[in-house]
Order: sequence, then structure tokens, then C-alpha cells
Amino acid sequence: MQTLAILGGERTVPEGMIQTWPPLTQEDRDAVMSVFDSNILHGTSAPNAVALQEEFAEFIGVKHCLVTNSGTSALHMAVASLGIGPGDEVIIPAFTYWSTAAAVLHHNAIPIFVDIEMETYSIDPDQIEAAITDRTKAILPVHIHGMPVDMGAVMAIAKKHGLLVLGDACQAHGCKWNGQTIGTMADATGFSTNRSKCLSSGEGGLFVTNDDNAYSIACKLREFGEVVIHGEDREYNAYGLGWM
Ligand SMILES: Cc1ncc(COP(=O)(O)O)c(C=O)c1O
Repeated sequence: MQTLAILGGERTVPEGMIQTWPPLTQEDRDAVMSVFDSNILHGTSAPNAVALQEEFAEFIGVKHCLVTNSGTSALHMAVASLGIGPGDEVIIPAFTYWSTAAAVLHHNAIPIFVDIEMETYSIDPDQIEAAITDRTKAILPVHIHGMPVDMGAVMAIAKKHGLLVLGDACQAHGCKWNGQTIGTMADATGFSTNRSKCLSSGEGGLFVTNDDNAYSIACKLREFGEVVIHGEDREYNAYGLGWM
């Protein structure tokens, strides 16, 4: 038997094979410098932000996309843009990154935990109905590790009980369930572009929806609740609670 590497044997994973993520290329450096050169470092009309929103909406196959400063704010935006608020219950999986629950709590709603299934480590659709009460407003499945939740089952339960469906796709960019891209079926979905994600910007997030009303509320939330129209004077009044 070979000696284990830890005991002085040969390494199975050679030195230098493990690289940092994401790989950074000259193209990335040029893209960052082009933002500096444009002199527009932030804002709803920043050219690179607008281009990313359009490209990501097309990639997922949804009407609307907004860039956010994190996946957590994109998830909060999904919660708040759909009118979920104080005392409303949102069903989430018991196994996820904790900010799924935080996004619900940030809008004074209550996360209700449902156990996961062993095949996907995602919410077990068979256990969702037992968690529904008269205060349940939405189901928020998490497509953990890029493994899609059984959206057919989730959507059927939501339809039966008149519930909204949100999505935590922070680890699931471009992931598909039954040929349908994650982000197209739920009422609103949040993605993360944090350093460790397969689409990475260091820190950041993406909110997507097909719902025009949710999108218009999300535009306000991105401005801390203010209506900001490019080229027009600002009112400096807030009409909602956003985390951007
Ligand atoms: C499943 C899941 N939900 C939410 C988040 C939160 O995203 P962010 O770190 O960009 O706020 C992450 C990533 O960290 C995640 O993996």
C-alpha cells in the first residue's frame, strides 16, 4: 500500500494544481480599466451594469434583471418586490447558506424551515404542505450546489395554495430543471456573483423577474426606496425599504 501524502508519501494532487477562483485574465483587467476610463463608477445607468442586466436577462430568458451589491440583497429584493412583509411566513429549506433566511428576516417576514431530500440536498417537496399555515405567503426553494429543486412539484403546491414562489439561485446560474432555466419559473429569483460562485464579480448579485410590478418595486428598492429616473431631478423621498 502507498504511504499517505500526510505521512511523507507522494501527493495525489500535485503542488500548484489548485488555483484560486475566479481566474483573472487580461480581459478582466481591461474590462475593469474601461469602467475607470468611463468615469461612471456606479448608478442605475452605468453602461457596464446596464449591459450586464440585459445580457443576464437574455441568458436566463426573463424580462427583467437588476444588478445588486450582493446575492443577499437580490434575495431581499425578491422578497420585498413581491409584497411579502411583517408576519408573513416564507418556507425555505433547513439546509442552505444562512442568508436565505436573513433575506426573509430583513423584511420582517418569518422563515419556516422544511427538511431536505437526500438526492439533491434541496427542499423536500413532499414535506412542504405540512408547513403551510394561513400566514404562508411564499415558498423559497434553494438550488443548492447547482442542483435544481423539483420545480414541477413546488409550482403545483404553490398553485394549489395560492402561494408565491421565490428562488435562491445564488449557486445555480444557468442551471435547468426539466429543460427550463432556473429563474424563469419563480415569481422572482436572486443570484449571487460573490467570489466563490461560478459567475463571479468578487461581490455582487443579480435579481430577475418576469413580473412588471415586482420589477418596478425592485427599481425603487435598489435606490433605498426612492424613484430615480435617469436625467431627471431626484425627489429624495423613499417609498420602501431596500438594502442597496
Ligand atoms: C445559497 C446561497 N444563498 C445566498 C447567498 C448569499 O449571496 P451573497 O454572499 O452574494 O450575499 C449565497 C452565497 O454566499 C448562497 O450560496
